Amino acid sequence: MKGRQHPTNDVTLNPSGNESIRDVIARVDESRRRFLRTSVSASVLAAMGGISLGGFVRTVEAAPIAPGLGFAGIGFDSISANLLNAATDLLEKDLVSVPAGYTAEVLVAWGDPIMPGAQNWDVAATQTAADQEKQYGMHNDGMHFFPFPTRGGGNLGVSSQRGLLVVNHEYTDEEQLHGADGLTGGAGVTIEKVRKSQAAHGVSVVEVFKAGKKWQVQRGSPFGRRVTGNTKTRIAGPAAGDAAMKAKSYEITPTGSVDTGTTTDGFTAYGTLNNCAHGYTPWGTYLACEENWNGYFGFRIPALDAEYAANPARVYSSSERTAYINQVPVELRRYGVGLPVFNSNGTFSGVYDFGYRWTEVDERFNCNVNRNEPNLFGWRVEIDPFDPKSVPVKRTAMGRFKCESAQEVVDDSNHVAFYMGDDERNEYIYKFVCERALTPNNRAANRDMLDAGTLYVAKFNADGTGAWLPLIHGQNGLTAANGFANQAEVLIKTRQAADLLGATMMDRPEWCAARPRVLGYTEIEVYCTLTNNSRRGNTPSSSNSAAGTTTAASANPPVDTANPRPDNDYGHIIRWREDGKSVKSTTFKWDLFVQCGDSQNANIPKTIGASYNKANLIGVDPADPEFSRKIYEGNINGDDYGAPDGLWFDYYGRLWIQTDQAGDGKGDWKNIGGNVMMCADPNTGATRRFLTSPTDCEVTGVITTPDHKTMFVNIQHPGDRAKASNPTESSNWPHTQGYGPSGRPRSATVVITKDDGGIIGT
Ligand code: FEO
Ligand code: CA
Ligand code: CA
Repeated sequence: MKGRQHPTNDVTLNPSGNESIRDVIARVDESRRRFLRTSVSASVLAAMGGISLGGFVRTVEAAPIAPGLGFAGIGFDSISANLLNAATDLLEKDLVSVPAGYTAEVLVAWGDPIMPGAQNWDVAATQTAADQEKQYGMHNDGMHFFPFPTRGGGNLGVSSQRGLLVVNHEYTDEEQLHGADGLTGGAGVTIEKVRKSQAAHGVSVVEVFKAGKKWQVQRGSPFGRRVTGNTKTRIAGPAAGDAAMKAKSYEITPTGSVDTGTTTDGFTAYGTLNNCAHGYTPWGTYLACEENWNGYFGFRIPALDAEYAANPARVYSSSERTAYINQVPVELRRYGVGLPVFNSNGTFSGVYDFGYRWTEVDERFNCNVNRNEPNLFGWRVEIDPFDPKSVPVKRTAMGRFKCESAQEVVDDSNHVAFYMGDDERNEYIYKFVCERALTPNNRAANRDMLDAGTLYVAKFNADGTGAWLPLIHGQNGLTAANGFANQAEVLIKTRQAADLLGATMMDRPEWCAARPRVLGYTEIEVYCTLTNNSRRGNTPSSSNSAAGTTTAASANPPVDTANPRPDNDYGHIIRWREDGKSVKSTTFKWDLFVQCGDSQNANIPKTIGASYNKANLIGVDPADPEFSRKIYEGNINGDDYGAPDGLWFDYYGRLWIQTDQAGDGKGDWKNIGGNVMMCADPNTGATRRFLTSPTDCEVTGVITTPDHKTMFVNIQHPGDRAKASNPTESSNWPHTQGYGPSGRPRSATVVITKDDGGIIGT
């Protein structure tokens, strides 16, 4: 989500806060060591009997990037970047492009029918909320492929020809969703438009199959399902039933949310929202993670509204803005809920959300009258894709934050952990360790494993060690005296609990990915993308307050060894290894896998602003005339990219990296072009550009079939800058790729195959 509705959460606050977490500053050179690089030769690999992962895979072809320990090599040639075309001011190609020998085709796009009785999509985008409830949602993001069993149990019992693709729909572009009227034209912001927006959010379950060489959606599949912003869900785990989880009870109707006059029981909620990346469980369920859910709520401040009504052009000073923001209750402010949105020129925008404006016609999202509703969001939502009637379950034991993804790891003792990032500037990395070990081959025994376990938050030390700090009520100051009455409150206020424990503030943690323990590799090693941080290194320095009172994304942490760049535009990827090869370990070793950047530094337009504290930089002399180049060229071993977001290890140990920058090839992205998917060797960092994308989109979400011969990739928000009056201003994809009518860009899922039928990546 980097579109116009992406939250900046830049509330221009400079809270003094508590003392920063500065114990990781400086001494970088000795700590910036990399893990010992290991490799084995191709002949050793051959001696191991070729490559086999659970029997799915038999052989790979020779690869120009050589195989190594736990890594099968990369065989394709890089493609060139999709740069800005000076004549058209657009990317050169409004297309998904892949290497020679590969083909990319669109499988399913926003609005396509996926359930019985669904209508075909209409390019005018005038269809109703009821239509959208049976169609593929908007702005697809994280996804997983659940293969069908095979008859007779051949090929290890799973199919690479038919399965359920389960896909998140992160957010909606209101300019593209409502036809020529947009959100505010025509009848204005109506409940019908808001219901359509809510219906385009959530999750899709799509049955897909391969007929001949072509993948298709199974029309009218009984497995086809939409979970939306209004689907009934169950709340489970330690926070279920807590007083803070009891919200006003509404009857959700097409014409409004009708107040029943009662409150809920704390065990139910409506809907899931802003499902960015995802997870899956070893027992075959899907986890939709709730990321920027805060952006749908409002908390109106009457005095500010009155001033706006009298004079919308009034300019507010920094201290005036701060004073209004501080009127938002702290439990909302810490998560960025209901903050008044000020424009860059200091005027008030008139809204308290990210521009969806649901609060104006759907009281459920109005925190002035329904204060506890935000507590029902920020969780992982477990969905059983094979049971279309099952009720999605919000698993509160895993914590409440703006969760990007949940990456499972099962260790050799069958203990299970999920690694998760909280994607906001200066937030934290978490892991949840299930109390019970996995019972192999007994799905029923594992189904409620997410309700009991320990949530930890990460602290990265300057010496390359790290610690998982447990968020357990009664320990480490998480007591009633400090505002945590019980474990439910620790979980509902996960961010505040992590503040108190002194967790390391990170540069926007996005996806986590676990390196597979294959081909001789035995470590539990997890990677996390840190996409950017415009507040890192800014002055005056401040950190998230231990009192939990910091407004979301308002602190200015100094650089540290885990986040070493000021105004970190290009982002980096951090990784850690669990000590003792156990997911239950409370200590780890870490290093930076890569710092992304623009190596064609002669053209870097980037300069570091005066507000950044150069004196605190690590390893670079601020007086050096090459200062900017050295900061922003990065250290990629191969093709340049930046703003890493999507991250996934394939079954052969290849690391796939997807990016989410502006996608327009301008400014910092002049040499890098549009967004991409890269493929990297985790041993050497050697990196190849595999996929480039249409204008103004993001590349996010990737999974393959079990045989690794089909890859699914999501393209999100092509043509994002367009207004309702001119939808194709910057993109007409996927029509430009031969899919669907001309006239409106659409988020869509792409199928990538190798022309020789081989394994993706070779
Ligand atoms: Fe929705 Fe953190 O990307
Ligand atoms: Ca992102
Ligand atoms: Ca993302």
